[in-house]
Amino acid sequence: MNNKIISSKTLASIALTLAVHALLLACSPNGEHMPLGDLHGKSGADAKSIEGGPYFTADIIPLLAKNCGNCHGPGSAMDWTNYETFKSKKDRILVRVLGPGANMPIGGKLSDTESALLQAWIDNGMAYEPGLTPKEPTSPEPQAPVSQIPVPVQSCVGCHGERGESSQTLYPKLALQTPDYLTSQLQAFRSKVRASTAARIFMWLPTENLTDDDISIIAAYFSNQPATQKNTPGPNEKILLGQSIYNDGLPGKGLPSCAACHGAEGQGIATMPRLAGQHKDYLVKQLGYFKTEERVDSNGLMSGFAKLMSEEDISNVSEYLNSL
Ligand code: HEC
Ligand code: HEC
Ligand code: HEC
Repeated sequence: MNNKIISSKTLASIALTLAVHALLLACSPNGEHMPLGDLHGKSGADAKSIEGGPYFTADIIPLLAKNCGNCHGPGSAMDWTNYETFKSKKDRILVRVLGPGANMPIGGKLSDTESALLQAWIDNGMAYEPGLTPKEPTSPEPQAPVSQIPVPVQSCVGCHGERGESSQTLYPKLALQTPDYLTSQLQAFRSKVRASTAARIFMWLPTENLTDDDISIIAAYFSNQPATQKNTPGPNEKILLGQSIYNDGLPGKGLPSCAACHGAEGQGIATMPRLAGQHKDYLVKQLGYFKTEERVDSNGLMSGFAKLMSEEDISNVSEYLNSL
């Protein structure tokens, strides 16, 4: 037997110790990181040499506990110490942790050795522990990377996708968005005029140091990306109600047609944004922000319109745009 293979009993006890510590970490009042990886007593580089590895139990859990535990520990919504959960996020890990625009861990960075170890674990089939062959990964292969992402765009792709195709509803799609609107919004984030909660949390930092030239490069890049994959459409009756609001407005309430400004197909024009194919949740959130004036556009038009719409109207029109 290869004397480097740790017995599964040892592994189980390590995993348990780590889990308990991660739990304590998650609850620690000052929220400081503790180098839990040290508990493991062996460096990632040693562990990597185990035949057939690296392994989730021996190599990856310590790395996660050290670098991600505070935010991704047991009990959190994204618990990376759960093997199946973490493995299912392969595509996201390649982008968010190992890609050119990686932005995880927030507030830190994996060392080169740690990045290499995580990459090797993914490349070698994401094994759980010695003797246990992982099942075939079920997630689809990541799309072939774009050959050259311009430098100012690199820090954006972790959230918005390499082609602005964002598959997560929290992040708006940027592909095919009009260049004028992209420019106006990047300026609004940079000058902190667009100041909704989500804008503050997510967009102030990435835009803080953008130059006007960077903004032109970014606007040209995303506006020229191909159409994104269609969203899953919601219930048909809501889509039809939403379509009617979009095309004709609500004359009884004084709400004008949205198509008049955003285009017959929701394609947008100049500083009036493309809305077609945008995530429903994102649209609902923005109309909510306009309604409460948490987001204010330069001429205040959208706030006025949003106030004329009920929650139901907002939901329906967003459902329609999501389906395009
Ligand atoms: C300071 C807190 C913090 C740390 C540390 C941190 N993350 Fe995150 N992570 C988040 C938050 C919050 C989100 C959700 C918001 C987002 O997607 O940006 C997230 C999202 C992610 C996602 C995207 C998940 C998805 O479904 O798309 C991945 C992958 C990820 N983190 C991996 C890691 C890894 C691996 C580490 C450690 C090497 C790490 N993170 C460290 C806070 C953190
Ligand atoms: C940590 C994740 C994250 C990163 C990194 C990030 N964004 Fe965003 N971005 C968001 C979120 C979330 C929103 C939605 C904010 C809101 O709801 O107001 C957003 C909104 C936007 C919008 C407004 C879209 C619209 O339809 O109004 C633009 C444009 C944008 N981002 C461009 C960028 C660019 C360019 C970069 C890189 C320089 C970048 N983002 C980096 C998360 C991110
Ligand atoms: C008079 C022109 C006009 C009309 C009519 C109009 N909009 Fe807008 N809309 C705009 C402009 C301009 C903006 C960009 C605001 C900014 O710069 O922040 C916008 C922004 C938006 C956004 C934010 C998009 C994003 O990506 O963040 C949504 C959602 C939206 N409009 C929905 C609607 C809906 C739904 C209607 C119909 C009920 C409508 N608009 C009618 C001009 C209009």
